[in-house]
Amino acid sequence: MKETMIAAFLPGDSTVEMRTVPVPVPGHGEVLLRMKASTICGSDIRCIYHEHLGKGPEGYQGVIAGHEPCGQIVAAGEGCRRFKTGDRVIVYHISGCGVCNDCRRGYMISCTSEKYRRAYGWQRDGGMAEYMVAEEKDLIALPDELTYADGAQVACGFGTVYEGLEKIGINGNCAVLITGLGPVGLATGALCRKLGAQQIIGIDVVPERMKIAIDLGLCDAVMASGPDNVAEVKRLTGGCGVERAVDCSANPAARATAIRATRKWGKIVFLGEGGTVEFNPSPDIIHDQKTIYGSWVTSTWLMEELVERLVRWNLHPAEIITHRFPLERAGEAYALMASGKCGKVAVCQDEELA
Ligand SMILES: NC(=O)c1ccc[n+]([C@@H]2O[C@H](COP(=O)([O-])OP(=O)(O)OC[C@H]3O[C@@H](n4cnc5c(N)ncnc54)[C@H](O)[C@@H]3O)[C@@H](O)[C@H]2O)c1
Ligand SMILES: [Zn+2]
Ligand SMILES: [Zn+2]
Repeated sequence: MKETMIAAFLPGDSTVEMRTVPVPVPGHGEVLLRMKASTICGSDIRCIYHEHLGKGPEGYQGVIAGHEPCGQIVAAGEGCRRFKTGDRVIVYHISGCGVCNDCRRGYMISCTSEKYRRAYGWQRDGGMAEYMVAEEKDLIALPDELTYADGAQVACGFGTVYEGLEKIGINGNCAVLITGLGPVGLATGALCRKLGAQQIIGIDVVPERMKIAIDLGLCDAVMASGPDNVAEVKRLTGGCGVERAVDCSANPAARATAIRATRKWGKIVFLGEGGTVEFNPSPDIIHDQKTIYGSWVTSTWLMEELVERLVRWNLHPAEIITHRFPLERAGEAYALMASGKCGKVAVCQDEELA
């Protein structure tokens, strides 16, 4: 085993700094992973890359970047109970205290321990490196049928979307509107298809992203964001609007569209983070009996369920990856993701780069 490795850090001025650091040693209950795939999330760009804007759970503490890690165990520390060298694993990207109520429900994302809650790539070293240490309790087994790049998508994006879709319920009765066709919006299209949605409509502002959604068959219709979106969605849905809407944009206008283009008794889930929204409670939700949900990441148990479903559905989340870069070129990867002219962007090693 080598003693040093290269790793990517985000100084917060729209650049990536590659540093040589010691290869970490796994402690009790921890494993050392050979990183295979580590993908970039919209949150990395919004809260860290351009500027360190995040606070609390989104506060970046100068650690190795990357909160969507997937790799292979090359060493297991003392006290590991299930996982061993050679296992292929996804890292649930928030390490919680393990004993608060949220952690006990599997939602380490909302762990209430100020001292022990640390997210990979935010408050503890993440996946943009040759190796990474993770706690065994944060690992999800990656089935043989899925690639490491598939697994990296589950660590945040697909896991988040699956949770949100479970909350609103998607089935063959549903027409679905997706506002924002970044990686989270594309994942929504992919999962809605497998859950049986009959009509999927997407809205974005970036033509490249609208094209990817159509080319990959993740949306049946796409439209550029604009003031006529509600009328356009109603026209495509027999004048009624969609049964379900998922906001993956965080944009105030797009959020309002998601609410207003949803029909009576419909359900809306907000996944996009930050910002605001304005709507009129009586006409927009109350009188139409609509429900708005918020959804933050997912639980470890639902993530396990998702990987099982992905195999059953033969759905490979890596299909939404449009660009792969070697670790040394992580700077180009972040710059591309920040431009928006891409699907998912991945930093890969070994077989995932071939
Ligand atoms: N809830 C959670 O747990 C969770 C988890 C992961 C990511 N997120 C958030 O989800 C959002 C999407 O993540 P992503 O990785 O796809 O990021 P992204 O920034 O790549 O995607 C956002 C998309 O919205 C589009 N958009 C901007 N304005 C729009 C408008 N007016 N109408 C329609 N689309 C518009 C953008 O062009 C972009 O394609 C981000 O806000 C991210 O922080 C939330
Ligand atoms: Zn994320
Ligand atoms: Zn906790």
